[in-house]
Amino acid sequence: MLLKNRIAIVTGSSSGIGRGIAIEFAREGAHVVVTDIQENPNQGKYHEQDTITPTVNEIEKLGAQGLFVKTDISDDTQVDHLIQKTVEHFGGLDILVNNAGIHIPGNSQELSIDDWDKVINVDLRAIFVAAKIAIPHLKKSTFGRIIQIASVNAYGGGAGPAYASAKAAVVNMTRDLALESAQDNLTVNAICPGYIETAIQDYLTPEQIEETRQKTPLPRFGLPRDIGRSAVFLASDDAEWITGTSLVVDGGYLASV
Ligand SMILES: NC(=O)c1ccc[n+]([C@@H]2O[C@H](COP(=O)([O-])OP(=O)(O)OC[C@H]3O[C@@H](n4cnc5c(N)ncnc54)[C@H](O)[C@@H]3O)[C@@H](O)[C@H]2O)c1
Repeated sequence: MLLKNRIAIVTGSSSGIGRGIAIEFAREGAHVVVTDIQENPNQGKYHEQDTITPTVNEIEKLGAQGLFVKTDISDDTQVDHLIQKTVEHFGGLDILVNNAGIHIPGNSQELSIDDWDKVINVDLRAIFVAAKIAIPHLKKSTFGRIIQIASVNAYGGGAGPAYASAKAAVVNMTRDLALESAQDNLTVNAICPGYIETAIQDYLTPEQIEETRQKTPLPRFGLPRDIGRSAVFLASDDAEWITGTSLVVDGGYLASV
């Protein structure tokens, strides 16, 4: 087991990629704090229609310990409570995965300023706040890790101005946090997923999905598990000398553009 007895928080882990990461961490022996605005998973229009059980149930089926802490990560007080609760319950914190994110479609004329603020608050500001509060605890760990879930949209336009800005900023925030944390052996890395089959894709038309399919060289879309295994690698001892970088996990999407 690669993460035996490590204590991890995965934000936005009731559904989708966060759930995939939480389950793979549990498979590797970690204790996982599942945190989200809701405990039940989202069922998507195209993907994850059959995902029903709360993530903690899946973690327990694997023989690991899970704890659900309801948190809206755009609320600083709730984030503080999440981190204190984790340390109190499990006795420390080794891994923070900043995964929770939202996407609101629309170009500069369609996206309201309120929607811009919502996306930036969840996809960028909350990541800073969670890292800020978690870092003093992570520095005490021998295996401290921060893993941020950015996107291939960090490297190009097309997903709307707020999402594109937030994800590019997360990639650069990752480098900055890595520099300040290196002396404490705390590594900070990002994962940039391509199209992963989750409910976040519900805003797309079947034609748009097919277009992305054509642009993805490997013969299938990504699954939450693909990002889960990448996160296990970055959290494991095998990645102890990797920091400040972004791992693109996209079935070759960026290689083709
Ligand atoms: N699916 C993809 O193709 C893809 C690609 C690149 C990046 N991403 C990124 O991966 C991350 C996860 O996306 P997903 O596809 O799993 O989406 P998803 O919608 O399936 O899951 C997101 C989860 O985050 C939770 N969440 C939303 N707002 C929250 C908040 N304020 N506080 C706490 N939890 C909140 C939701 O309830 C949900 O359970 C996001 O950051 C997303 O931008 C996804």
